[in-house]
Amino acid sequence: MEVDRFIAEQVAGFAKDDRATSRRLLRQLIAERLGLPESHLLSHPERELPAELVSDLREEVQRLQAGQPWAYSFGHVPFLEDSFRIDRRALVPRPETEELTRLFIERHRTKPPTTILDMCCGSGVIGLSLARAFPRSRVWLTDLSQEALSLGRENAASLALQDRVTFLQGDLWEAVRRGVHATLRFDLVIANPPYVAENDTLDDSVIAFEPPLALFSEDDGQKHIKIILKDLYRFLAVPGRAGFELGHYHHQTLTNFLQQNFDTGDYNWELDQHGVPRFLVFDRGAKGHAE
Ligand SMILES: C[S@@+](CC[C@H](N)C(=O)[O-])C[C@H]1O[C@@H](n2cnc3c(N)ncnc32)[C@H](O)[C@@H]1O
Repeated sequence: MEVDRFIAEQVAGFAKDDRATSRRLLRQLIAERLGLPESHLLSHPERELPAELVSDLREEVQRLQAGQPWAYSFGHVPFLEDSFRIDRRALVPRPETEELTRLFIERHRTKPPTTILDMCCGSGVIGLSLARAFPRSRVWLTDLSQEALSLGRENAASLALQDRVTFLQGDLWEAVRRGVHATLRFDLVIANPPYVAENDTLDDSVIAFEPPLALFSEDDGQKHIKIILKDLYRFLAVPGRAGFELGHYHHQTLTNFLQQNFDTGDYNWELDQHGVPRFLVFDRGAKGHAE
């Protein structure tokens, strides 16, 4: 079948509002599968697609129409400066997570952290981007899911970062509480933990395609962050910084917990690009920190 006929046939099955984007992304996907630049397909719309590819792509489009994220079809996703492998072993990285990572890259530009912990690392986008930004830093990445860790390790290898990063499996702090790692103190602790409450509304497609372990947290989406915060100062160096991505209402629901456990001067909420306080940022022993 010809490329353009195939695209027209498949795009018709997407919702009307999604058709222009679907047409563009489908052409990109076909170009990648054929190992050709997209411009070649634009100038050769009559190019014949191999029958096997047509049947593979039809199945892919069915999954996309059922709500599968395009990133899983491509098998890679851009995140800050790099491209990361992505599949159903881990959550598709979100723009807010790029914002959080960029915030800390900028804050540490003049004084890079020596030791960094990315907890709940998933595909590794946060920790590996920090390792790329700070070539002298060592990064520990942890996750409960062995599948996510295997994807993270693949990403570390393709970015040639294996020598400076260590992946550890475990339940939140348990991953670094064991053996030689128990003595580690981190200059920067960063995490995008699961924070969706069980009764929050999520797109059906997110629930159907992304790992539930990456999404949900009991106690109104706060179980993970409360465990992380309880022991934060046991593992955070002085001076040290920490940053967490959370849900849009957690700046209100976590108020009492934060007041009971920390000095008010130690933390603040930073806004995301939509003006929502989404990033809980700690600056411990701020004296001497270079901005
Ligand atoms: C929201 S995803 C974040 C993934 C990645 N950091 C990102 O931003 O794209 C949360 C991650 O936490 C992991 N996770 C869930 N429960 C955990 C636990 N108790 N201990 C450690 N990791 C956990 C999940 O497997 C998932 O990879």
